[in-house]
Amino acid sequence: MKVAVAGTGYVGLVTGVALAHIGHNVTCVDVDEQKIKKMQCGISPIYEQDLEKLMHENQERLIYTTDYKNAYKNADVIIIGVGTPERKDGSANLDYVYTVCNQIAESLQQDCVVVVKSTVPIGTNDEIEQLLRDNSAKGINIYVASNPEFLAQGTAVHDTLYASRIVVGVEDKRAEEIMHTLYKPLTLEPYNVPYLSTSRRSAEMIKYASNDFLALKISYINEIANLCKKLGANIEEVAKGMGLDPRIGNKFLKAGIGYGGSCFPKDTKALHWLSTCNGTELLTIKACIEVNKKQKLVLLNELINDLHCLEGKTIAVLGLTFKPGTDDLRDAPSIDNISLLLDMGAKVKAYDPIGIENFKNHVHFKLSNDGVKGTIDYYESIDETITDADAVLIMTEWPEIVNYEIGNYKKLMKEPRVYDGRNCYPLENTKEIIYSSIGR
Ligand code: UDX
Repeated sequence: MKVAVAGTGYVGLVTGVALAHIGHNVTCVDVDEQKIKKMQCGISPIYEQDLEKLMHENQERLIYTTDYKNAYKNADVIIIGVGTPERKDGSANLDYVYTVCNQIAESLQQDCVVVVKSTVPIGTNDEIEQLLRDNSAKGINIYVASNPEFLAQGTAVHDTLYASRIVVGVEDKRAEEIMHTLYKPLTLEPYNVPYLSTSRRSAEMIKYASNDFLALKISYINEIANLCKKLGANIEEVAKGMGLDPRIGNKFLKAGIGYGGSCFPKDTKALHWLSTCNGTELLTIKACIEVNKKQKLVLLNELINDLHCLEGKTIAVLGLTFKPGTDDLRDAPSIDNISLLLDMGAKVKAYDPIGIENFKNHVHFKLSNDGVKGTIDYYESIDETITDADAVLIMTEWPEIVNYEIGNYKKLMKEPRVYDGRNCYPLENTKEIIYSSIGR
């Protein structure tokens, strides 16, 4: 099939490459010329396992371009995979989605299924279909399908090819047939992905409800962890005991310093916003958001309690990205923590294996503010970062941090004081240092 994909971020590019891998001819469209040039040279603009390899393997079926008109005009299927960032009020900003819709409407010259992969509020697909039908050339049949993605960063290629499920929300038989043809290879060996056909609104809701449930699971285990710590229970044992019940399951029960990333923070806020607007406020999600906000600072508050004043103190922060295996910093706990450390006048020493360049852009605005008393420096090794520090805050469980020799904290720091937001070390190995973690 002839497929065009709008947007070459995590969702768009990975989807495009995966569809080329199962035999479709795919044109990936983006407005960013630099990005397109990179991809034309076989370089992936994002750090994602196996992506570049598959770009090479399937290069004869992949085109990268900024020329949306040519890409869209005779595509059988156009997939929208652009971002829907959060607005100030928590709602989803659909500007990029509608810009692409207008471009599709002005370009289309034949019947087409427009597939919305971007996460959009329930009912948006109906509006998009109306807009496309109103604004496209007469005599063309346009169908809109909602087809949410469930990929996680770091495992995006695997999560797409060996997906837990393909959800397709359609309202017409013809669209259903085309979508089934598009994904058929993934429903067969070796992938065997379950295929679920639903109404469009249900598909839109499945995406939000799934992400919000996972976020809720994390906030729940984090609250239980905080209570465990107070009461002398160990959250790792508790989570293991809970997870053995198949009704609960053992995934997403890892307590930590809070969730970040491109999906959970924005999707919880967007669904909460949507529920409030419709007079059925989701109180569970409201609590989940509040818990996560507090959780991000739970160890910093302990540190302040322990050291009293952080002005002039050297605080090493290990890990900046929202999780290991990505250079993404969106809503990463490191941002809130470092921001407050700088406000309090601390000397921050920061380490991350790949996230430093991105972090500098984030913190730049903060440092240009008047009244920020602290300083921040970046290091390429953990040894250098912790040398002479008064305390260490661990924000991301990178293997480099998890496998770090604990004895070095004692050797290199002023006082071996470690606040571990990702429970990187077994408790029995931390007896020689002052160590605080989550729920243990
Ligand atoms: C997530 C969903 O997993 C994916 O299905 C959806 O499509 C997009 O959002 P992603 O944001 O890439 O993917 O990362 P994920 O691995 O799910 O982690 C999200 C955050 O939750 C991270 O900050 C992680 O540290 C945190 N987390 C995850 C926990 O704190 N505990 C857990 O048990 C799991």
